[in-house]
Amino acid sequence: MRGYFVAGNWKMNGSHSANAALIDGIRKGLDRCRDVDIAVCPPAAYLESVGAAIRGSPIALGGQNVCDQDKPGAFTGEIHGSMLADVGCKFAIVGHSERRALYGEDDQRVARKFKAAQASGLVPILCVGETLEQRESDQTEAVLKRQLDAVLDLCGIASFTRAVIAYEPVWAIGTGRTASPQQAQEAHAFLRSMLADRDARIAAPTRILYGGSVKGDNAKELFACADVDGGLIGGASLKAEEFLTICAAAQAQIK
Ligand code: PGA
Repeated sequence: MRGYFVAGNWKMNGSHSANAALIDGIRKGLDRCRDVDIAVCPPAAYLESVGAAIRGSPIALGGQNVCDQDKPGAFTGEIHGSMLADVGCKFAIVGHSERRALYGEDDQRVARKFKAAQASGLVPILCVGETLEQRESDQTEAVLKRQLDAVLDLCGIASFTRAVIAYEPVWAIGTGRTASPQQAQEAHAFLRSMLADRDARIAAPTRILYGGSVKGDNAKELFACADVDGGLIGGASLKAEEFLTICAAAQAQIK
């Protein structure tokens, strides 16, 4: 019922030439992952050029961040959701742990960003996840609940008919230390149960991605988990072959 979705979060990486080579490489291997929804989220400076490079392919475009303001205006350095939509974005990542930790985005701001993204017709990819300290002190579910409730309370359960969740344990991001399939499944099932508590018919089809050191060689076991519907890929999305191997691992799950 839920198709697989693999999104590449390029973070603050790339250049015109590197992006062109990366998209070219991905496009050449798309027949390995025909039934998987794929998106790339380049830095804002390259959205337009990457948008042009993926034109005519099934690859979708996403922004890595979006302004929480209702309307465009005097907000230096910010990018309004309508602008992301205008340059061809379908998705916007909101609440990535790097934004939360390094740029002070709290749950309320993330919720406003989620709302603003949807108001501009974008599909938010809402990132949630606990730190190592929180996991080790048994707070994982409490943290996920707080992060997801902030969005549910502001935007309502119906908003999840047009949203994607990414479970990204902070301790697994960029560290080479991936959550075990069991840890991922537990967190994903918990998030889905939170949605189901509000509306089971919306919880069932909502896609929940796993993110945090997904690589070509661990994607398969993660994607095999019942509630893992794909991945949000950082470092491994910068290499065409590695990214394609991950997308192909999703394809292999499709019966
Ligand atoms: P990583 O990043 O794959 O490099 O761990 C994932 C993310 O931060 O979205």
